[in-house]
Amino acid sequence: MSALVELERKIQARSAVIGVVGLGYVGLPLALSFARAGFRVIGIDVAQAKVADVNAGRSYIADVDSAEVRAEVDAGRFRATSDYGELAEADCINVCVPTPLTKTKDPDVSFIVSAVEALCQTLRPGQLIVLGSTTYPGTTHELYRPLLERSELQIGEDFSLAFAPERIDPANKTFAISQVPKVVGGETARCTELAARMFEAVFDKVVPVSSSEAAEMVKLLENTFRMINVGLANEIAMICDRLDLDVWEVIEAAATKPYGFMKFVPGPGLGGHCIPVDPNYLAWKLRTLNFNARFIELASDVNQAMPGWVVDRIARSLNRDRLAVNGSRILLLGVAYKADVADARESPALDILVDLEALGAEVNYHDAWVPELRSEERSYRSIELSDETLRSQDMVVITTDHSRVDYARVCELAKRVFDTRNATRPLGPLDHVERL
Ligand SMILES: NC(=O)c1ccc[n+]([C@@H]2O[C@H](COP(=O)([O-])OP(=O)(O)OC[C@H]3O[C@@H](n4cnc5c(N)ncnc54)[C@H](O)[C@@H]3O)[C@@H](O)[C@H]2O)c1
Repeated sequence: MSALVELERKIQARSAVIGVVGLGYVGLPLALSFARAGFRVIGIDVAQAKVADVNAGRSYIADVDSAEVRAEVDAGRFRATSDYGELAEADCINVCVPTPLTKTKDPDVSFIVSAVEALCQTLRPGQLIVLGSTTYPGTTHELYRPLLERSELQIGEDFSLAFAPERIDPANKTFAISQVPKVVGGETARCTELAARMFEAVFDKVVPVSSSEAAEMVKLLENTFRMINVGLANEIAMICDRLDLDVWEVIEAAATKPYGFMKFVPGPGLGGHCIPVDPNYLAWKLRTLNFNARFIELASDVNQAMPGWVVDRIARSLNRDRLAVNGSRILLLGVAYKADVADARESPALDILVDLEALGAEVNYHDAWVPELRSEERSYRSIELSDETLRSQDMVVITTDHSRVDYARVCELAKRVFDTRNATRPLGPLDHVERL
């Protein structure tokens, strides 16, 4: 029996051992899905603290309960290690390591490269490797395949290689991981088929596409679509400000159209690991092909201008009361990049904080999800949201609309509120509350 036929049999019998490399926001939930489906899962992470947490049955991701981790660890189905050598045992390996940008906003593929270099050491007949980290079209084919083929094992015959983008949406309680269809594109038809078999064990629907490049492009289309539409909503916010219109009223009314319109909302700027980052992977790839991705550039410009525009609106608002930003006490309410997550990566709140400080404001923040925040210069700690804190500010800026905050209390106690998220909408119009 060929090695890949045996792999297919093992996947179907759920006796295949699943490896997950990178146990972060994406990797930990994925590893648990396979474990819950009855597979034995080996998780690999370079962060010793995460390995120790997993093995002790503790979760460090807000969307994952420690009880879920403990159940799979106690049942002997899930174990974490930093030793890549243990992947010799794994039949299917999912790579979920970070794909950030360099300082010059080019793709930083160092994490995915170091992961595949380590996988090359244990590659054997009958293994399936699936890259899940978001990346530019061509990464699997041009970067992963040649490195794995150095083993002289035949792709599609001895081992399989595919790309399957991750679509997880942290804090989204509407869709369980298994309910979001999984797109899969392999290096050969057989690679696609085997990756599809593996994901069918944990996802309700698998969507095969014709190549790894197509699967890579699907993810970038999804995130570019979102980034551009958020950019449009942000520009509409600026337009409505000029026209002295309430952008939220306009968007809500437009969203009543049952077809041909999809609601996106403005905010203080893009944040998180995906939307501000991923379209740059596509734009970079296209620059190598002498093509300028103009929609991406334009939307990036608008989105990147948002924190500065918010600072400008705060200054205008204080100015109306004969106050300067310089010397004003300003509290940022929420620094996570979106509501109900503990993730402050790329959060626009940090840009707003640093800009206001540079103008001489005395800035503090409160965020129950993010106890500490670091800029390039220094670190900040969340302060308590006491009555005294709220009363003593010249301005409270709602930068993240966490659901646990009592906005009625904030508006009752604060002298002025600038709301970038429309969190105070249910309170109706209030003289001292300004909305984006
Ligand atoms: N977070 C999301 O909402 C989301 C959604 C869709 C796609 N993605 C993509 O998924 C990928 C992973 O994102 P994430 O948010 O889970 O990142 P993360 O930072 O939360 O987790 C990545 C993990 O990989 C580990 N790691 C780094 N280098 C490693 C290596 N060489 N070997 C083993 N482990 C290593 C890190 O310690 C970390 O625990 C990225 O490409 C991201 O763009 C993320």
